[in-house]
Amino acid sequence: MTSDPIFEPGRLGTLPLPNRLIVAPMTRISAAPDGTPTAQMADYYAEYARGGFGLIITEGTYPDTAYSQCYVNQPGLATDAQAQGWRPVVEAVHQAGGRIAAQLMHGGALTMHNRFASGTVAPSAVQPAGEQPPRYHGKGPYPTPRELNAAEIPDIIAGFAAAAARAVTAGFDAVEIHGANGYLIDQFLSHHTNLRTDDWGGTLTDRLRLAVEVAHAVVAAVPAHVPVGIRISQTKVNDLSHVWPGGADDAATIFSALDATGISYIHVSSHLGCGPVFGTGLSLAGLARRHAGCTIIANGKLEDTETARALLNRGEADFLSLAKAALADPHWPSKVAAGQSPVPFDPGILSPDGSLASAAAFRAALGR
Ligand SMILES: Cc1cc2nc3c(=O)[nH]c(=O)nc-3n(C[C@H](O)[C@H](O)[C@H](O)COP(=O)(O)O)c2cc1C
Repeated sequence: MTSDPIFEPGRLGTLPLPNRLIVAPMTRISAAPDGTPTAQMADYYAEYARGGFGLIITEGTYPDTAYSQCYVNQPGLATDAQAQGWRPVVEAVHQAGGRIAAQLMHGGALTMHNRFASGTVAPSAVQPAGEQPPRYHGKGPYPTPRELNAAEIPDIIAGFAAAAARAVTAGFDAVEIHGANGYLIDQFLSHHTNLRTDDWGGTLTDRLRLAVEVAHAVVAAVPAHVPVGIRISQTKVNDLSHVWPGGADDAATIFSALDATGISYIHVSSHLGCGPVFGTGLSLAGLARRHAGCTIIANGKLEDTETARALLNRGEADFLSLAKAALADPHWPSKVAAGQSPVPFDPGILSPDGSLASAAAFRAALGR
């Protein structure tokens, strides 16, 4: 029998994983209002471990008590009390035989609810495209953010580093920096949301500076054995059509600069799937592989096992992360390994909102 690359063991930096399947980060707006994780969240995350996922990446978690919180009932790692609140979640995952990474996220201009401050901040005062998603209790257009003073930026970087250290204290196995999908770090990276003329804007290298500085700071804040990764995308939650204007050249600059920070992995998120980009014949993950020596996680419609296996076999990625397919069926790995069909994703699981309660009601109504 030939072995299935999806179920081969692998290493994320120094962290051994039993297979190539990772739960992608998914916001679930189900923490207590003060950002403390709940017992329901511990059950939710442990279920993925019971279902055979090698690693679970948490929902985007805010790192500081200034402007980073993005959603109502979003969990934080901004205080020691919040970090303590993550311990039972981490322990539940470990007891179920899994491993868990904390995703650290600053909402920037896409912030919809922040109990610590009013107004939103961003590299420049550019109103975001699109509307605030009702799934996370948003309504209407995003407000125009305030341009960050250069003096505020070191505090944001320090906030990521401090939250990463708290994640390690809470027992997390890895830390992921959310540099994707249109949130603060990606707002700095994108030419149309970053109009700055100081050190933090201008050329691609300048726009990438925040991602690079955060990566350096987080790597320095955690012990060497704890993998640190960064998530990167072209697409944004409020603009799925965005592409990097410099194409393959931008990819070379971005991935090689991030790799040079000493991170263990790059997690490439592609909402529209892992097809070839920029006429290179490679997926965006494949371009990350070409320009970075670290571990690569691919994401985007990889419940299509043929695409998933092909990416692994061609060496374009080392690991695969699943979001909607994992949400639909936390036992996706064990079912696929057994030749069974997982429950397919139905958007009803995120209705009326993206909370764990809505998902539970949806499953109960279907008798699952
Ligand atoms: C309900 C939901 C919440 C999400 N929240 C996050 C998040 O907190 N952080 C993040 O990086 N991506 C988030 N994403 C994006 C997913 O991680 C993933 O990139 C996207 O869904 C495409 O992968 P898929 O085709 O496997 O669903 C979310 C996606 C969904 C469906």
